[in-house]
Amino acid sequence: AEPSALPRDLEGLRVVVSAGGTREPLDPVRYLGNRSSGKQGYALARVAAQRGAEVTLVAAHTVALPDPAGARLVPVSTAEELRAAMHRAAERADVVVMAAAVADFRPDQLAAHKIKKRDGEPDPTITLARNPDILAELVAGRRAGQTIVGFAAETGDERGGVLDHARTKFKRKGSDLLVVNAVGQGRAFEVEDNAGWLLSANGDERPVPLGSKAQLAAAMWDAVVRFRRS
Ligand code: CTP
Ligand code: CA
Repeated sequence: AEPSALPRDLEGLRVVVSAGGTREPLDPVRYLGNRSSGKQGYALARVAAQRGAEVTLVAAHTVALPDPAGARLVPVSTAEELRAAMHRAAERADVVVMAAAVADFRPDQLAAHKIKKRDGEPDPTITLARNPDILAELVAGRRAGQTIVGFAAETGDERGGVLDHARTKFKRKGSDLLVVNAVGQGRAFEVEDNAGWLLSANGDERPVPLGSKAQLAAAMWDAVVRFRRS
């Protein structure tokens, strides 16, 4: 649909969306990262702005993407920076969406100088420390009337399908909504031919058909609007 055909049903709402993948530094030139493109988070921000929301986009590392029109961009790099930016933006947000791929672990030491290889010495070992669960922190600090959305990429396995794993994660995370992407080989275990699910704390569970990131974004904002009216 062309932008003018979109509903203005997010008018008056302040929303914050995180996007992209964090980078966890090892030394001044190296990091641990992930393959997140950031495209889904950017699509969420763009669609929200088109539907009338006041949008803050907290963006970690992404492929080259055009700035989403109408969104305030807050660039971050590490999970710690993303955490601080999300807590700040969440203070005045009506809806908080964690679409970023946050590194679960960071190197527990940040070397002050570039790590060098030295003949005759053992090769270095990287030990990892757990990063904070930002979504869980946001849920713990949720303001009255604030809606919090998590994302999860799940595969089915011998212990259950995508939906089983998603329901378990949804309970553990405590968010109001969880957007579940079915990924990887596990999809072969699924009977449903869906790209994912939208789980709502009011008990609503809806399949999301395979489609573009803009279509998933529209489906998620529809679910947010439904949830806030329920
Ligand atoms: N998330 C977060 N902080 C982290 C890790 C994840 O806020 N340190 C958020 C993600 O942005 C996403 C949701 O939590 O919205 C689910 O992420 P996921 O990686 O699927 O969940 P984890 O709890 O990290 O579980 P897993 O061990 O399956 O990776
Ligand atoms: Ca994770």
